[in-house]
Amino acid sequence: MKHLKRTKIVDILKLTPTNEIINVKGWVRSKRGNKNVNFIALNDGSTIQNIQLVVDVEKFGEEYLKPISTGACISVNGILVASQGQGQAVEINASEIHIYGEADPLTYPLQKKGHSLEFLREIAHLRPRTNTFSAILRIRHAMAFAIHNYFNNHGFFYLHTPIITASDCEGAGQMFQVTTMDLQHIPTDESGKVNFSEDFFGKPANLTVSGQLEGELGALALGSIYTFGPTFRAENSNTPRHLAEFWMIEPEVAFYEIEDNMDLAEDFLKYLIQYALDNCKEDLAFLNQMWDKELIERLEFVTNNKFIRLSYTEGIKILEEAVKNGHKFEFPVSWGTDLQSEHERYLVETHFKCPVILSDYPKEIKAFYMKLNNDNKTVRAMDVLFPKIGEIIGGSQREESYEKLKSRIEEMNIPLKDMWWYLETRKYGTAPHSGFGLGFERLLLFVTGMGNIRDVIPFARTPKNADF
Ligand code: 4AD
Ligand code: MG
Repeated sequence: MKHLKRTKIVDILKLTPTNEIINVKGWVRSKRGNKNVNFIALNDGSTIQNIQLVVDVEKFGEEYLKPISTGACISVNGILVASQGQGQAVEINASEIHIYGEADPLTYPLQKKGHSLEFLREIAHLRPRTNTFSAILRIRHAMAFAIHNYFNNHGFFYLHTPIITASDCEGAGQMFQVTTMDLQHIPTDESGKVNFSEDFFGKPANLTVSGQLEGELGALALGSIYTFGPTFRAENSNTPRHLAEFWMIEPEVAFYEIEDNMDLAEDFLKYLIQYALDNCKEDLAFLNQMWDKELIERLEFVTNNKFIRLSYTEGIKILEEAVKNGHKFEFPVSWGTDLQSEHERYLVETHFKCPVILSDYPKEIKAFYMKLNNDNKTVRAMDVLFPKIGEIIGGSQREESYEKLKSRIEEMNIPLKDMWWYLETRKYGTAPHSGFGLGFERLLLFVTGMGNIRDVIPFARTPKNADF
């Protein structure tokens, strides 16, 4: 076969037909036809669109063409011509075909169309070859790119915070321990306690739940930073919105008060959604048609409307009123309780019909680092609540007073000896500052319209599941 430089399908579809021979490589989506001519739909992942190959059966021979079935990988040289059929502008008249890899129709699992999302999760190694997952993965890439673009355009510096840490940022104790100790023979001291001085780091270490604490160190030097990395939570919640390993984006800004933080969160989310609308048109149109007929409408709605801002206390009043008027929630709601997803979604979907930024939560249900309000009861926390998702962003203004922060750490029984470095930022040149965390997969749930977080990450990590 004559060697030609490969042209990606996304680029081929922009070409006007000439008489030149081009090369295309990809995986067969379908083959149909008759004794004289075969039509092969080929996809290479560069776009949701296939290129149609027109194959003269007599020229290649029926036997040669037989193994070119759904899932097979081929390389084709041919002339790009204007299509005579419906559904595509151009097609390729194949002159040479090389088969890289066959896919036995008796066993290849992606034979038929219309598999359930549950089944596709069991074959996560192959599901990127479906239209749905390739669309999601391209959108995932576009969103990651847009995030870096946004921050770069706004003078934020990308700070790489550690994955392995000895502190628990959120204080929820939901961490995966990292150790090189032999679990069959754990070293102990005289009192029978585990002797961590013999462990790799000489003390207990974990996978991080958030890059925030180190992010704050960066913000108090560089002014505006963001992190974007994997985070880990060993919470045993098997819900459509929780992963054990997920990616988080955490901007942190010196001299920001909570209102500035809200403005940033709103502007950032709107930019990302508008970026998807502008740059992922075909993939969004596919997902809209296939899975969620209101997807694009919902995305446009969010970019076009101002988010509602109200306090936790006001939010609770609305929820209590709803209960009085006969609305049934699974979990009880009263001042002081943490909001469940059903409460958040009631505020967003039923009451305001608009994204909501809820702020000033009771200090008892939030992390130690949040700035205490003058009422001594609430902290300057903010959660951004989205339709279909509930909490998409969690953030706050940080406590900048050394004394107040120290007493919060003590109140919450967090070992001070692990926090000395964090406290020193308040001792030396402290400044008001704020930040938030956006769950990358929660964002992708919203942007793709998918209902389960396992379907917006290539290889999901959830309780009892670390395959692939
Ligand atoms: O609200 P969280 O726990 O906030 C923090 O970790 C702060 N340190 C962030 C900050 O202020 N810099 O988590 C932030 C976001 C949530 O709003 C949610 O979108 C996402 O992370 N998230 C999860 N996403 C998937 N699976 C999980 N188990 C998640 N837990 C949180
Ligand atoms: Mg939160």
